[in-house]
Amino acid sequence: MAVKFSKTFLLRKLHQITGIVPLGMFFFVHMFTNSKAMNGEAAFNKAVKEIHDIPFLLLIEIFGIFVPLIFHSVYGILISAEAKPNALNYGYGRNWFYMLQRATGIFLFFFILFHVLNLRFGLVPYLNMTPVAGNADKAFAIVAGEFQITWVMVVYIFGILATAWHLAYGFFLFAVDWGIVIGEKAQKFTLAAGLGLAALLSFVGINAAFSFVRPCGLMPKFICEETKKPAPSGAAKF
Ligand code: HEM
Repeated sequence: MAVKFSKTFLLRKLHQITGIVPLGMFFFVHMFTNSKAMNGEAAFNKAVKEIHDIPFLLLIEIFGIFVPLIFHSVYGILISAEAKPNALNYGYGRNWFYMLQRATGIFLFFFILFHVLNLRFGLVPYLNMTPVAGNADKAFAIVAGEFQITWVMVVYIFGILATAWHLAYGFFLFAVDWGIVIGEKAQKFTLAAGLGLAALLSFVGINAAFSFVRPCGLMPKFICEETKKPAPSGAAKF
């Protein structure tokens, strides 16, 4: 007997999968690449050049990042519009997390749009106008220039915190919804692991951001290769 699924059920599952597989994986790789800025300008530019040299990069970007990102964001906003926030009535942690998941999703829609236009395409008026795409040799200088502007740095820190939370809590919701974690104890443990992951990803991302304005980011300088060389131009603001 053929099993029939409703369209809404399939769209919901696709929404969850796109959040975990292409987008979640991309975020881990992206923070790893950005962390190479800890070792200085040459190390980061080399990492960006290696990405630019990947064969079929444009197709990978379109079908591996942009299409899933647009589907996940637009469908996520539709789900959020139907949301019935009840945190004020009940005040349980999970009710607040439910609201935060939707609030971070909406914020991320605007943040990612800003970020991609700002760095990948260099198209935000009054900010950087040189795209990182096709300019790997200038990648560090472009990002460092932007992060010298305090409000831009603050927006990126919120972007990292929101992404780390949204992804880590998304893992938890995925594990519960797909029946991977069933019992109450297992769910409590998975939720705690999710919160730990959010904290770890936040630290890695914020440390990477600071690496563009301070050699070795927030870490002690002796653990980074580049600290013996002179700091890149204007890199001592923070
Ligand atoms: C430390 C903070 C961050 C830095 C320094 C940073 C840096 C960059 C750079 C330089 C690019 C352009 C890459 C290129 O054209 O070769 C880029 C693209 C991108 N970033 Fe970030 N990013 C940061 C945080 C984030 C966050 C929090 C997200 C949220 C998911 C994000 C999502 C993206 C996406 C979707 C792209 C487009 C990918 C592509 O064009 O292939 N980034 N980022």
